Amino acid sequence: MSAKNSNKKIVLLPGDGIGPEVTAEAELLMTGLAEDYNFTLELQTELIGGAAMDATGEPLPQKTLDACRTADAIVLGAVGGPQWDDPNLKVRPEQGLLALRKALGLYANLRPVRLHPKLAGASPLKPEYLEGVDLMVVRELTGGSYFGEKQEGDDFASDLCTYSRKEIERVVIRAANIARDRGGKLTLIDKANVLATSRLWRKVTESIMTERFADVPYENMLVDAAAMYIVSNPARFDVIVTENMFGDILTDEASMLVGSMGMLPSASLGAGSFGLYEPIHGSAPDIVGKGIANPFGMLASVGMMFDHSLGMQEAAQRIEAAIWDCISNGECTQDLGGTLTTSKAGEAVRKRMGEYDSSSLVSG
Ligand code: IPM
Ligand code: MG
Repeated sequence: MSAKNSNKKIVLLPGDGIGPEVTAEAELLMTGLAEDYNFTLELQTELIGGAAMDATGEPLPQKTLDACRTADAIVLGAVGGPQWDDPNLKVRPEQGLLALRKALGLYANLRPVRLHPKLAGASPLKPEYLEGVDLMVVRELTGGSYFGEKQEGDDFASDLCTYSRKEIERVVIRAANIARDRGGKLTLIDKANVLATSRLWRKVTESIMTERFADVPYENMLVDAAAMYIVSNPARFDVIVTENMFGDILTDEASMLVGSMGMLPSASLGAGSFGLYEPIHGSAPDIVGKGIANPFGMLASVGMMFDHSLGMQEAAQRIEAAIWDCISNGECTQDLGGTLTTSKAGEAVRKRMGEYDSSSLVSG
């Protein structure tokens, strides 16, 4: 037997709700690819979120964090659920994910939104509004009101929103590079007519764009207007960069453009090749245990991991092409108008992967 090319350690954090159901499909996909590309895949499964609270009392146990720090990448399912919604609880499952993003310095959250033409009918929007939808939202992930000082009383509460120049610069530079690589434009979304933090975002972004990215078209837009344009003229956007909370809200909105929340992948990145990959759909308590969760957002997240953290671009392209083909052929779950279960949809992607090699892939 030939020696393996390398060793990759991936930490799996299935979490709550449908998280474990879609993470199981990610695991099968990765295992197959490790064989195809001749590397040793070391998988370690750890607890996060509500599942971790039930087992240890903490949403992010030290053991989980330690494992993540030694990994090449993390694949996360979802956190949260109605069983942990009691406002009297001292901790919440979501705190586990937030603490993990912060501890690992994952400041840039990439959320691509690309419409498969066949799914135009699955979107609540009229198909004529959806033509050409292909955008990338770069959401700042470790700052803003999510992480500012909190006060919480019976008669008063406060979530401080702060941003430093450095925090803005690094994520804007990342987004501008993506826009340049795509040959596209960058839109900064803010609320500069009201918020001081937004005015700093605008100042910093404008100077970066004039000094370092003069070749990349740039515009800014107020978040309320952007929320409207995402449904009235989504194809006008290319790369969006925005602060943490706006990015959270706008990406749920944007997910409706491509037919289903279950479609959107994401990559949370810091300075190096390390990253955390998760679908944006959340724990979906209403469909837990039914075997109908759409695994494509998760599998596409694994694709982003192969691209960014493992440096295996061909594998990433194969995953994307296979998902695309499954949709073209109606091999998908109910939310996309298909009839497949989660595991059958995952299996369909793995089967179609086998149909591609480097020579059959069209780039782009
Ligand atoms: C997301 C989620 C999280 C967020 C929650 C679960 C804390 O909504 O990743 O978009 O708000 O960032
Ligand atoms: Mg969200």
